[in-house]
Amino acid sequence: MLRIAVLPGDGIGNEVIQVGVDVLKALEEVTPGLEIAYEWLDYGAERYLRDGVGFPNDEREAIADRNDAIYLGAVGDPRVPGNEHAREIILETRFNLDLYVNLRPCKLLDARFCPLAGKGVDDVDFTVFRENTEGLYTGIGGIFKKGTADEVAIQSSINTRKGVERIIRTAYRFADEHGHGRVCMSDKSNALRYGHDLWMRVWKEVAAEYPKIESRHLYIDVLTMELVRHPEDFEVIVTSNLFGDIVTDLGAALQGGLGMAASANLNPERGIGMFEPVHGSAPDIAGQGKANPIAAVATTALMLQSLGRPAEARIVEAAVARALAENATTADLGGSSSTSQVRDFLVQTVRELSAGNT
Ligand SMILES: NC(=O)c1ccc[n+]([C@@H]2O[C@H](COP(=O)([O-])OP(=O)(O)OC[C@H]3O[C@@H](n4cnc5c(N)ncnc54)[C@H](O)[C@@H]3O)[C@@H](O)[C@H]2O)c1
Repeated sequence: MLRIAVLPGDGIGNEVIQVGVDVLKALEEVTPGLEIAYEWLDYGAERYLRDGVGFPNDEREAIADRNDAIYLGAVGDPRVPGNEHAREIILETRFNLDLYVNLRPCKLLDARFCPLAGKGVDDVDFTVFRENTEGLYTGIGGIFKKGTADEVAIQSSINTRKGVERIIRTAYRFADEHGHGRVCMSDKSNALRYGHDLWMRVWKEVAAEYPKIESRHLYIDVLTMELVRHPEDFEVIVTSNLFGDIVTDLGAALQGGLGMAASANLNPERGIGMFEPVHGSAPDIAGQGKANPIAAVATTALMLQSLGRPAEARIVEAAVARALAENATTADLGGSSSTSQVRDFLVQTVRELSAGNT
């Protein structure tokens, strides 16, 4: 029995996560031995506004202990201008459960959706390993003389040997295990002479342990340029929290947009992961049936893979590929389907593909 805590969150999070769960339920119906228990969680803006509750640490710990994975939609609501609840739900979950790996596959499934002329599915297929618990996102800093002409704001970047080493090692291990020949580490060590000097030194040490893998280093500004010019040069990229955040949105654009991009937050040692589409709660289209559920559904494939169900993950991926090939897509991908029509297509396709598999 797999146990999944489902946290739809805000806005279109609710719409796309329901589609993901429906696809998982369709898989369960047709896959002997696949059983999933869902624990639905109502953390999000609504609860925060009503009870002042974001995602309390003790509840998070208990949820992580009794589940194998957390399946998150998106959080963010204009009624909570500071998005305090979102910090607790996303950032503090990453920090407190020590989900130090942010894994984001950037794979183009259909050349029509790539914004780059002349690039096809073989050209955009790389995985980014973003450090997920340190860097500039830890919230360490302060503001002095706020609101005055003399205001000073300090935001500190944290880089520890342990944190840098474990994400670089994870990227190399992944490359080794998945037959990838190239790993690129990206930082800004020419300007960030302390934090990223550490990245550079640790990377050289780890890279030396993998002589068969071609190791490359690019400053982050060069990486963004090279990803647009020659995405085919990249297989595995490892970088810091902020740079990974930015570069994976670029990756999402190369694979067809935010509606396509899936991600996993992992702690391989603890055995708990939080899986989420890369996009946000999209208040501009929430409740209108326009949300593209592909990213959320592709996220279930990542989750199944991580939970030891690779065959089922492949079925979900194949269903997504068929939806794209047959234009069963929402308007952001040029289609005319609503969220629920894409859902119906995916559920039906998963049933058909599973039947063909047995
Ligand atoms: N992981 C997260 O939960 C997460 C990530 C990013 C932003 N946010 C939050 O979401 C809220 C909105 O942020 P934003 O507008 O900058 O980013 P967003 O990703 O929500 O939306 C950006 C644009 O992409 C479109 N879009 C996004 N996902 C889509 C989908 N699945 N289908 C079709 N169109 C889609 C939106 O309509 C919008 O035009 C903010 O509160 C922000 O803080 C949350």
